[in-house]
Amino acid sequence: MSDADESVAEGKALWHGRFAAAPAEELMAFTASISFDKRLWADDITGSRAHVAMLGATGILDAATVNAIDAALSQVHHEMSSGTFEFVDSDEDIHTAIERRVTQIAGDAGARVHTGRSRNDQVATALRLWCKREIRVVIDYLLQLVDVLQSRATEADSVTEPVYLPGYTHLQRAQPVLLSHHLRAHGWALMRDADRLFDALARLDVSPLGAGALAGSSLPIDPQRSADLLGFAKPFDNSLDAVSDRDFVAELLAHIALLGVHLSRIGEEWVIWTSEEFGFATLDDAYATGSSMLPQKKNADIAELARGKAGRLIGNLTGLLTTLKGLPLAYNRDLQEDKEPLFDSVDQVRRALVALAGMISSATFATDAMVRAGDAEALTATDLAEWLVESGMPFRRAHAVVGEVVRTAINTQRPLAEVVSKHSDLGPIAAQLISAGSAITRRRSRGGAGPAVSADQATRFTEELNRLRLR
Ligand code: ARG
Repeated sequence: MSDADESVAEGKALWHGRFAAAPAEELMAFTASISFDKRLWADDITGSRAHVAMLGATGILDAATVNAIDAALSQVHHEMSSGTFEFVDSDEDIHTAIERRVTQIAGDAGARVHTGRSRNDQVATALRLWCKREIRVVIDYLLQLVDVLQSRATEADSVTEPVYLPGYTHLQRAQPVLLSHHLRAHGWALMRDADRLFDALARLDVSPLGAGALAGSSLPIDPQRSADLLGFAKPFDNSLDAVSDRDFVAELLAHIALLGVHLSRIGEEWVIWTSEEFGFATLDDAYATGSSMLPQKKNADIAELARGKAGRLIGNLTGLLTTLKGLPLAYNRDLQEDKEPLFDSVDQVRRALVALAGMISSATFATDAMVRAGDAEALTATDLAEWLVESGMPFRRAHAVVGEVVRTAINTQRPLAEVVSKHSDLGPIAAQLISAGSAITRRRSRGGAGPAVSADQATRFTEELNRLRLR
């Protein structure tokens, strides 16, 4: 090893040649990213292996050198996975740490690993590899939650009497809807999230390796080969863009933020549903928490935190966008700020998905309370107006007739059925129709909330879920 190789192996900065003084402690404390980019170690090694194989294939490095570096990278892999890798203070990021160790192990060969490469294309490569793997895991958990919603919906549909509850607009009771319909509504939103994450994965499937610091290389490197070796769909087209592009992180954070918003809305509903005032669902003890002071309390903390975490997920997105907005081409150290929000959003949303799946699959629905609330008299007013439309009355007039009937029932404190039954336009047949249980069976339009079309929706739901599982 030459003196220069040795200094890197001994922990001098990769850029030490130009500098007379070692980096100040404060500089390292402020700029080092090793504490959080450690988790890129496996992807960094994967990237280096492909890079070195490419250097071998193009004749830039000879076979013996390639083998020596590859063996050193294997050893680093082993040390990292067994937890025996020894970090030193000068390891400012995971890429530095690994190159230092490779140089320590392989000497002169190790000092060639960075040929035709910069940490700028190296870090972008490792991060894209990380996203390709970890976002798949998020999608898996997401589809598992969708599956829970679908099986609870199927279960609700499988009892003889339809299970319904009030559907709300403005959080005021509006029309009765099947419980399965309500559960699947959230499922469809989550499936769009999965679709969006898949779209982002397809777009980020581009290898930046070979872009170098910003301008490519004067050595005969082969970015296409590196991309193929790493399983990327294609290599970058513009080296400046390749090292400065963090669109893929922003896009993932945006999709995760929207997913977080959906989870927040589910959370909010469960907080409402499990309140004593609503009493539509009871949480399993394993998925609820108590109070340190109030002995009787049973709280829906998972639902609340699913709601609360959305703020943080949105914050991670806006934080990164703000970091990116003023950056000139190409790489700027600001870009190092991409990792913490990305890792945090992925970690948080993953936990939220798993916790909500457990909470919803183990909860008990108070179907009696739901049906009782769904049976509230005036909820079928629209169905009644539509019944009048069927016998030829213009909808606007039917709306007025039923509205008046509801007002009379309220003002005279008489049951709605009685007022309907005595009304000249309505009568006893109409009075029978206004029970929620019978009104709901009259909903037949595609995608509507009645049992007549619920099997059809269930089929389409399963088809969509299967399509996503195979994407
Ligand atoms: N730790 C840096 C990051 O995450 C790696 C790239 C550093 N490149 C540089 N030229 N300083 O972005």
